[in-house]
Amino acid sequence: MENEQLNTVQSNERNSFTGKIGFVLAAAGSAVGLGNIWRFPYIAAQHGGGIFLLVYIALALTFGFALMTAEIALGRKTGVSAIGAFRKLDKRFTFIGYLAAIVPIIILPYYCVIGGWILKYLTTFVTGGIADAATDGFFGAFITQPVEPIVWFLIFIGLTALVVLLGVNKGVERVSKIMMPLLVLLTLIVGVYTLFLPNAMDGVLYYLTPNFEKFSFTTVLAAMGQLFYSMSLAMGIMITYGSYMKKDVHIETSVHQIEIFDTGIAFLSGLMIIPAVFVFSGGDQSALGKGPSLMFVTLPQVFESMTGGAIIGAIFFILVFFAALTSSISLMETVVSFLEDKFKWKRKVVCLVVLAGSILLGLLSLFGYSIWSEVTVFGFQFLDFFDFISNSVLMPIVALLTCIFIGYIIKPSAVAEEVEITGKFKAKKMFYVVIKYVAPIFIVGILIFSVLEGVGVIVV
Ligand code: PHE
Repeated sequence: MENEQLNTVQSNERNSFTGKIGFVLAAAGSAVGLGNIWRFPYIAAQHGGGIFLLVYIALALTFGFALMTAEIALGRKTGVSAIGAFRKLDKRFTFIGYLAAIVPIIILPYYCVIGGWILKYLTTFVTGGIADAATDGFFGAFITQPVEPIVWFLIFIGLTALVVLLGVNKGVERVSKIMMPLLVLLTLIVGVYTLFLPNAMDGVLYYLTPNFEKFSFTTVLAAMGQLFYSMSLAMGIMITYGSYMKKDVHIETSVHQIEIFDTGIAFLSGLMIIPAVFVFSGGDQSALGKGPSLMFVTLPQVFESMTGGAIIGAIFFILVFFAALTSSISLMETVVSFLEDKFKWKRKVVCLVVLAGSILLGLLSLFGYSIWSEVTVFGFQFLDFFDFISNSVLMPIVALLTCIFIGYIIKPSAVAEEVEITGKFKAKKMFYVVIKYVAPIFIVGILIFSVLEGVGVIVV
C-alpha cells in the first residue's frame, strides 16, 4: 500500500531527470562550487598538502560516499523532498526534515550575494578592466557601495530563479549539461596555462608534497568539514535531487561519478591557483590568504602580473560563475521543492515567493557591508553569521541526526534495498559501519571543532 502510494507520487506530475547523465551532472553541478575552487586549494595547502589530499580522498570514499548514498536513496525511495521524506519514513522524525530545510533557506541568499560579486569581476575582466580589478582598494570599494552590489546580486539571483522556474529537465538538467563540461574544459585551460609559468613547479611541490608537521587530528576534522560543504550534504539537496532520479539508475555508481567530479575539480583548482599565487608572491605562502581576499583581491593581482592574464582571468571568472550558478540553482531548487511538496502551490508562485524572500535576506547580507557595517550579530557580520550558523552548526547537526535515523531507526537496510533495485550494492558492509558508528563519532568531533573555531577558541 505504502509502495503503491509512493509510486503514484512519482509517476504523477513530479518531474524527473531524463537519465543517468542528467542526474549526475546536476548533482555534480551542486557539489562543484566556490568550495572547490576557492576554499579547497588553500585549506589543502595549509594542512599538509599531499597528506591532506590523501585524507580527503579517503574520507570522500567512505564518509562522503555513505552520506551521499543515504540522502539520494531517501529521496528516491520517498519521491519527495527532505521534510516529506522524513515524515513518510517515520512521522516522529519530521523535524529532521525541517532542520535540513532551514539550511538552504539561509545559504541561498548570501551565496547569491557572492555570486553577484563574481558577476562584477567577470564583467570587469571581460570588458578589459583588469587593471582596475587589480588595484588594492577595488574589492573594498565595491562591496561597501550601497547600490551596485545590489544590482549584481539581483542579476545573479534572477538568473538562478529563471532556471529553476523552467523546471527540473528544461532548466536544472539542461543548464548543468551545458555548464559542467564547459567548466571542466575551462579549468583545464587555466590549469595548464599556470603550470607553464616560470617557477610554477615550486607551487606545485608546495601543494602536493606531504608535510607531516602540519598534520594532526584537526586536519582530519578540517577535511571532514570541507567535504560536507563541498558535497552539498546535510541540507536536503541530495534528497531533493534523489527524488527526481529515475528508478533504473544505479545510485552507487552515480555517487562515485559525482565524487570523482567534485574531488577532481577541487584538485585541479589547486593546480590552477596555488602555483600562480606562488609565482606572483615569490613563494610567500601568506599570499594564499583566507576568506574572500584570495579570490577577489590576490587573484586579480596575480592575473594582472601574468602575460595573457587578462584572458586567463576572464576565463577564470567565467568558470567560477558556472560553478556558483549551478550550486545556487540546487539551493533554490531545494527550497522550491520543499514548498511545492508542502503547499502544493504552482511552481511559478513558489519561485516568486522564494525569490522575494531570498532577496530580502540577501539585502541584509549586502547592507552588512555597506550602510549597516557597524551592526554585528554575536560579533559576526550578517553574511559571516549566516555562514557560521548554517555550515558550522546546522549542517553537522542534520548530518548526525540523519546517520542516527538511518543507522538505528529505519536501519541501513532500508537504504540498501533502494540501492539494490538496480543491482549489487558493492560497498554495503562499509556503508553500514560508516553510517552506524564512524560517521556519528566524527560528526560530533566536527561540530565541537567548528563551533570552537567559529567563536575563536581554536585558531586554524
Ligand atoms: N557544494 C558547494 C561548493 O563546494 C557549496 C554548496 C553548498 C552549494 C550548499 C550549494 C549548497 O561550493
